[in-house]
Amino acid sequence: MLPLKGLGFINFMKYTPSPNRYTDTVGYNYCGKSGLQLPRISLGLWHNFGDVNDQNEARDMLRTAFDNGITHFDLANNYGTPFGSAEKNFGKFMKEDFVAFRDELIISTKAGHLMWEGPYGDWGSRKYLIASLDQSLKRMGLDYVDIFYSHRYDPNTPIEETMGALSDMVKQGKALYVGISKYPPAKAREAFRILRENGTPCLIYQDRYSLLQRGVELDLFPLVEEKGLGFIGFSPLSQGLLSDKYLKGIPENSRAGQDFGFLMKDQVTPEIISKVTKLNDFAKKRKQTLAQMALAWCLNDKRVTSVIVGTSSVKQLKDNIKALENTSFTDEELWLIGEAAGSM
Ligand SMILES: NC(=O)c1ccc[n+]([C@@H]2O[C@H](COP(=O)([O-])OP(=O)(O)OC[C@H]3O[C@@H](n4cnc5c(N)ncnc54)[C@H](OP(=O)(O)O)[C@@H]3O)[C@@H](O)[C@H]2O)c1
Repeated sequence: MLPLKGLGFINFMKYTPSPNRYTDTVGYNYCGKSGLQLPRISLGLWHNFGDVNDQNEARDMLRTAFDNGITHFDLANNYGTPFGSAEKNFGKFMKEDFVAFRDELIISTKAGHLMWEGPYGDWGSRKYLIASLDQSLKRMGLDYVDIFYSHRYDPNTPIEETMGALSDMVKQGKALYVGISKYPPAKAREAFRILRENGTPCLIYQDRYSLLQRGVELDLFPLVEEKGLGFIGFSPLSQGLLSDKYLKGIPENSRAGQDFGFLMKDQVTPEIISKVTKLNDFAKKRKQTLAQMALAWCLNDKRVTSVIVGTSSVKQLKDNIKALENTSFTDEELWLIGEAAGSM
């Protein structure tokens, strides 16, 4: 049984992290063949930490995460509504709650999607990536990030230029490690080679991975394993579809029910709900919530270093941490769950 740390501090009080945050909490995996360990569950700040979100809940989620050994917070330049607000708010919480614990934290950010107008605020040029990291550091009030990612492959910029910018960030001490996200496999292979030749090997590859989205298993998992990199999966709950919340319609306060955010109402299709209903029945048999089973399922594959969850409440985060109480599946379970998810 995983005892959950933190009693829901009243959040204007000074924060004192749980002294037991590394005892019987989330546990860590080495990131590929590197010396860096990541918590099995990481917290992402894409949604739920912007200016449109409840700042008390946001702060409590970060505190609860850290109290439970979640040492990795994943950001990007454009996270939050409006763009940049997740980094700005995180910077405030960092200063107020976590500044004394900087060396216990792995903070990542990224650039590659649209951030500002004009030709230098999108994609993968050296100009964009370097300016963006400088802005991110300023918003978060940090001297360096632990991991900087190229957020997506840019077909119009030479890959040597994008990787060169990443390597220089490490050499300048603005990032300790670098990673890439959502690259086509052949381009990922090229990126890994160039980064190694530059003397700044790629630490980690980030892509979507869930029971409903298993595309990376085919090419990226074998590649990452061959190269000794870590893999971190985002949207392991398919943005909330892999929970029981949409079984009876679209709740108003859910990601699909809100006007901002990236899960559209028309993505909640009868076909998905039929799969999710079957998966929910499996989860009940395992005495887990569907969200817990979906996270446990991702972590059952040893090539997965960590999964990045995005929660909208402390309650969800605590529910998700409990997934770690049972991450084992029999072969039969894996087969049946895969069949129900239509993702064999
Ligand atoms: N590299 C990239 O391009 C990329 C792209 C996307 C995401 N990411 C990273 O991955 C992180 C996670 O992505 P994500 O937010 O899509 O992840 P997710 O965990 O699949 O979805 C999060 C949503 O699921 C729902 N949820 C979470 N826990 C729940 C629970 N126990 N019970 C019921 N519902 C639950 C919440 O929805 P409600 O809001 O409806 O409550 C929450 O907002 C991001 O924050 C970001 O750091 C990276």
